[in-house]
This record gives sequence, C-alpha cells and structure tokens, in this order.
Amino acid sequence: ALAIWHQLTKSEIPELAKASVLMRDRSRVEETIQAMQRAGPDALQVISDFDMTLSRFAHNGKRCPTTHNILDNDLLINDACKKMIRQLLNTYYPIEIDATRTVEEKLPHMVEWWTSVHELLIQQKIRRDLLAQAVKQSSAMLREGYKVFFDRLQEQQVPLLIFSAGLGDILEEVIRQNHVFHPNVHVISNYMDFDQSGVLRAFKGQLIHTFNKREGALLHAAHFRELQERPNVLLLGDSLGDLTMADGVAHTQHALTIGFLNDQVEERKESFVNSYDIVLVKDETMDVPNAILNYIT
Ligand code: C5P
Ligand code: MG
Repeated sequence: ALAIWHQLTKSEIPELAKASVLMRDRSRVEETIQAMQRAGPDALQVISDFDMTLSRFAHNGKRCPTTHNILDNDLLINDACKKMIRQLLNTYYPIEIDATRTVEEKLPHMVEWWTSVHELLIQQKIRRDLLAQAVKQSSAMLREGYKVFFDRLQEQQVPLLIFSAGLGDILEEVIRQNHVFHPNVHVISNYMDFDQSGVLRAFKGQLIHTFNKREGALLHAAHFRELQERPNVLLLGDSLGDLTMADGVAHTQHALTIGFLNDQVEERKESFVNSYDIVLVKDETMDVPNAILNYIT
C-alpha cells in the first residue's frame, strides 16, 4: 500500500520530490493529502503566518523586511529611533531563532523586544496616512507564486487566516498593494490605534509575539465561527511558535503543517523536521503549498 501512496503523489505532486523538501514521515503526509482531497475544499481552511512565510525572507541575496522593518523609513521615524530599533533587532532576533534555548527561556525576551519597539514607534508619532507610501518604498515582497496561492483560495472559497506577530496595518497594506486582499482573507495581528488626527497613540488588544500565538488563537476563535466548521487545516509557518496557530480550531480532522526553514538551517533542521510535517529549506517560492492546494481543491 505504501508504494502506491508514494507513486501517487510522486506523479501528482512532483514538487514534493525536490531535494529542498524534508519530511519526517512521507507516508503520513501522503495519506493526509489524500484524506484532504477526498473531503474537498468545503472542509478546508488555511492558517498562515505572515512575515517570512507569505513574505520573502530574501531576494537576490538581500534580506527582505518584516512588517516591523518596513517602518524603518525616514518618512516615519528619525535616525536615533532607527538606530535603536536596529539594535533591538540585533539583540533579540538571535534569541528568537536560537536552537539551544527553550520557548520558556525566550518568552520574556520576546515580550521585551516587542514592547520596546512599540513604545519607540508611539514616541515617533507615526502618521497613518504615510503607511501606504512606506510600504511602496520598501523592498518587502511576497513569495514567488503568491498570486496563484491567494487567487486559488479565493476561487475555491477556502478561508485564509493570516496570523501574524507583525503589524496588521502594514500587513494589510502589503497584500492590498499586491492585489490579493480578497474577501476570504482574515487577519489576526497587532493593530495600531490612531488618535483623531491619525497619529499613532497605542496598540490595540493583547500583544502577539512569536511564541504566544496559542493564546491569540484561543482568544480569537469565537470571532471566526465559520472556521470552526472546517475540520481540515493546512498550516504554514517559519517558526516553531507558528505551530500553535491552529489551536483555536476545536475539531480538527486532518492537519498538514508546512514550515519554511529560512535561517540557521543546520542548527534548526532537526527540530523543524520533528515538528513540521513538511519542511522547505531555503525555498523562496509557494510552489509546494500551491501544488498541494492544486491537488486537494
Ligand atoms: O508575521 P510573523 O508572526 O512572522 O511576525 C513576526 C516576525 O517579525 C518575527 O519573526 C520577528 O523576527 C519579526 N520582528 C521584527 N521586528 C520586531 C518584532 C518582530 O522584525 N520589532
Ligand atoms: Mg514569521
């Protein structure tokens, strides 16, 4: 039976045979894809991280910005603030992706990082009407094949929940400028709170960072009732913290998780392969998710 499964996806989804695709248990992946295909698009939902998952990690050898880093623009913040935000990134990003520390050890550092940056942004009195221009001027890019991904989900009426510890206002602007902010897209993220004159004064709701997405998922589950009726989940992320994004789905039948391993590849390979069903090593495209979606919807 196993040989038949392998043959089936090899011919139907040749993308899974690429050298950059790692799987702990190929048979389980193939069985899950088959089961999702039988259940069809009405039973499916997609839950995805944003920064470095839907957006690119690098392009032509240069790092692409996260939603936070898109604000690193003279339009919005002064040089002193830029310097401080970069220092914070240099301090805390290595901790975020450190394979030798536990999530528990990382948690307080992440809260410190996000809180400090958000305070700096508030001090800069960022103006809402300049955000779109900052996004336009940035080098942010969605992964190659993003349009096929978003358009297909919209066509098949499969909801896409984007769950981001980045900045919701910026994220929405990125997908709007790329013409893929379709009605099936829902976003959970950190949103800015502007005063009457359109100046940033606070952040709304509970802070979302890389390692508390489980709490966010449970908190927001009630708002996304339509998602509760879809038991099959395709999850995309680039951090081990992203695996908890589906914890708000009460009755999961089949779940398939795809992890983009962008950075610290050798150090993190083992933990990614143990945690994600499919690991994509330094793959800047949506080819694998698109091929799977093409097969199951
Ligand atoms: O969308 P996602 O959940 O991936 O967004 C969070 C990412 O943004 C983190 O992985 C982190 O590296 C990055 N970040 C940043 N600057 C901050 C806070 C987070 O670039 N101030
Ligand atoms: Mg990410």
